Amino acid sequence: MLGTFTYHNPTKLYFGQGSIQSLNEELPKYGSGVVLIYGGGSIKKNGIYDTVVEILKENGKWVTEIAGVMPNPTLEKLYEGIQIAREHPTDLILAVGGGSVCDYAKAVAVSVHCQEDPWEKYFLRQEEPDCPVIPVGCVLTMVGTGSEMNAGSVITNQETKQKIGKVFEDERVMPRFSILDPVYTLTLPHYQMVSGIYDIFNHICEQYFSGEDDNTSDYISEGLMRSLLHASRVANVDPQNYEARSNIMWTATWALNTLVSKGKSTDWMVHMLGQAVGGFTDAAHGMTLAAVSLPYYRFLLPHGLARFKRFAVNVWDVRPEGKSDRQIAEEGLTAMEAWMRELGLVMNLTQLGVTEEMLEGLADVTFVLPGGYNPPSREEIIGIFKESL
Ligand code: NZQ
Ligand code: ZN
Repeated sequence: MLGTFTYHNPTKLYFGQGSIQSLNEELPKYGSGVVLIYGGGSIKKNGIYDTVVEILKENGKWVTEIAGVMPNPTLEKLYEGIQIAREHPTDLILAVGGGSVCDYAKAVAVSVHCQEDPWEKYFLRQEEPDCPVIPVGCVLTMVGTGSEMNAGSVITNQETKQKIGKVFEDERVMPRFSILDPVYTLTLPHYQMVSGIYDIFNHICEQYFSGEDDNTSDYISEGLMRSLLHASRVANVDPQNYEARSNIMWTATWALNTLVSKGKSTDWMVHMLGQAVGGFTDAAHGMTLAAVSLPYYRFLLPHGLARFKRFAVNVWDVRPEGKSDRQIAEEGLTAMEAWMRELGLVMNLTQLGVTEEMLEGLADVTFVLPGGYNPPSREEIIGIFKESL
């Protein structure tokens, strides 16, 4: 472990069946004005909305709603939410939904008391808030992003086709608390469930495929990946299996709450490629990652051979005897591909509506981050997209 770092995660988690009742513990800590944010209506169908509103009322809260936050929340919707929050008492923002709703809640929280344009300030210039930040709490209903315990927020500007994430350093942006009841995820369609599972897996990969020192973070990552592989196989054929779904939920949180990035330079290029695709197609986040992953990792493998070999042996149980390092490493990716197909993930960009004519434009909006084994050039990015079609 060669890096130096600070670790502090202030989000309080309430986990398990019935954990929604913990809202009664949290709500008294804040003033009476609550802005309740949710998505396109799944929480009304499965009853979570009624439960939350009842608890808010019992706690004497004055509730304003921002409804209809879409997957891959847009800048236009963000402006609307900021306006609503400015016009109503907002002592706490309560996000009830998936990563999109939680991310959106954070973006509103940092913008209500800020005079500058949030897109320019936070997403384009990547600045930190220099104004009061409204506290956010999350009730998670879709598992994958880790937004429930991190300070990330991803917003899409439909006009410029840019989907940009900001990972805030300011701890005030972290959810103050998150409520994780695996039962709430049981109504997710299979497509969303596996999209989230791949998102989790890739979050771990993005951090694991960097660095060469002996680092405890990598051992934790391997454990998380093994747990996820097991639970995902169970949930894939038996989606109502509480034990599997609860493990997937817990793994998602630890995959991206900064723990396994400690001491790591981290790669994040699959996310950069996937986000570019998201800006153009509005596809489900996890599926954009699945579609580009194998071409990217096959491109990366020769540059991080030792790590890909370790991945094959420690995560995928590839037997190393009598094989070259390259063979072992490639077998790891073959095993990963088989698992991805077993889950029914989207395995190419064509299925998401990407065409060859879009590739230059996609490369234009792909950020290149420097932490991986071989940050790709523009030509290489276009090559990876082409391989992914
Ligand atoms: O809108 P509703 O009707 O609620 O339906 C949602 C939505 O259509 C549905 N859903 C959620 N919970 C459900 C449910 N349907 C039935 N039963 C339930 N219990 O699922 C759909 C997808 O939800 P969404 O929140 O969009 O999914 P996800 O959690 O994958 O979030 C994706 C967003 O998070 C960003 C992504 O880029 C994307 O914009 N990310 C955020 C990160 C972070 N904060 O650190 C990191 C990630 O890498 C990611 O980039
Ligand atoms: Zn992700």
